[in-house]
Amino acid sequence: MKALVVGGAGFIGSHLCERLVHDGHEVFCVDNFSLGNEGQVAGLMDETVSFQLREIDATDEKAMDGVFSSFKPDYVFHLAANSDIQASAKNPEVEYRNTYTTTFQILEAMRKYEVRKLFFSSTSAVYGDKRDEILDENTPNLSPISYYGAAKLGSEALISAFSYMNGISSLIFRFPNVIGPRLTHGVIHDFIKRLKEDDTQLKILGDGRQTKPYIFVTDLIDAIAQFMEVDSGVTLYNVGVEGVTSVTSIADIICEEMGLTDVKYNYTGGEGGWKGDVPRFQYCIDKIHNAGWSAKYSSDEAVRMTVRAVLEGGN
Ligand SMILES: NC(=O)c1ccc[n+]([C@@H]2O[C@H](COP(=O)([O-])OP(=O)(O)OC[C@H]3O[C@@H](n4cnc5c(N)ncnc54)[C@H](O)[C@@H]3O)[C@@H](O)[C@H]2O)c1
Repeated sequence: MKALVVGGAGFIGSHLCERLVHDGHEVFCVDNFSLGNEGQVAGLMDETVSFQLREIDATDEKAMDGVFSSFKPDYVFHLAANSDIQASAKNPEVEYRNTYTTTFQILEAMRKYEVRKLFFSSTSAVYGDKRDEILDENTPNLSPISYYGAAKLGSEALISAFSYMNGISSLIFRFPNVIGPRLTHGVIHDFIKRLKEDDTQLKILGDGRQTKPYIFVTDLIDAIAQFMEVDSGVTLYNVGVEGVTSVTSIADIICEEMGLTDVKYNYTGGEGGWKGDVPRFQYCIDKIHNAGWSAKYSSDEAVRMTVRAVLEGGN
């Protein structure tokens, strides 16, 4: 199969490229390097494998036309987005461009070049702050509280219409925090950086009781590989792990792994880490469990393995 991976030089995209190449597919990776970089896929550049990387912005219609007309993909994996939610809180335009418009442009190219298979990386952020409800794929009235969540929900709507109008088979995964080797930002990175600068104290945003499920990146990639052949129309799954990890537990795990025993935690206070952050979160993953997939690693295990990978230098 010829696979086009948009946003493939990012954290999750690079793991997906590796998996697709490993499974014998021909991979063309497009990225504008706004958050990703060549180094993320360096392992693939060295080998004599079917892998190409191009610096292209997915909102550039002409450039994307060039990719679709020359490479002629069978399957498009759309991972391009602004993944730094905290940053876009100050600049919503970046979500419009990199999260929403990328989706439109990719779908438009798929329509023109008659590509019929799509994977889309959506997010638990589409649900918004609904901590007392059971959130499954049929939850109505989705009300994201971040610009990022809104741009992803809008993207899902575009995918629904383009899939119906053009006979596209779309697999949409909504996932929570994904972590693992080559992670580029987020709470684990921030804490390790701060502790390397000063190992006597640690500033923690919020009250530390924010709890979220953390899924290890290879678990997510396994799920994509298992479900990528879907019927026409949209197939939607929540993908995640059963447990959750609190921000204070993440700090504890990092201190343990760094051998630090006497760190004073300074909480900034309040429930959420920043505006747009959903402080406590877990959603229903029965549908994908019933379909035959579950994560190998718990949320705490994923955190510990990621901390080790980041401390060891990434790859
Ligand atoms: N990491 C998570 O916890 C998480 C959770 C839910 C959903 N997601 C989604 O999964 C996808 C991958 O996330 P990630 O963590 O690997 O983030 P990432 O930032 O490492 O990867 C996104 C990639 O998209 C690229 N990109 C952004 N705008 C682009 C554009 N206009 N044209 C071409 N490339 C562009 C970036 O340079 C980056 O390499 C994203 O869509 C993200 O929203 C991630």
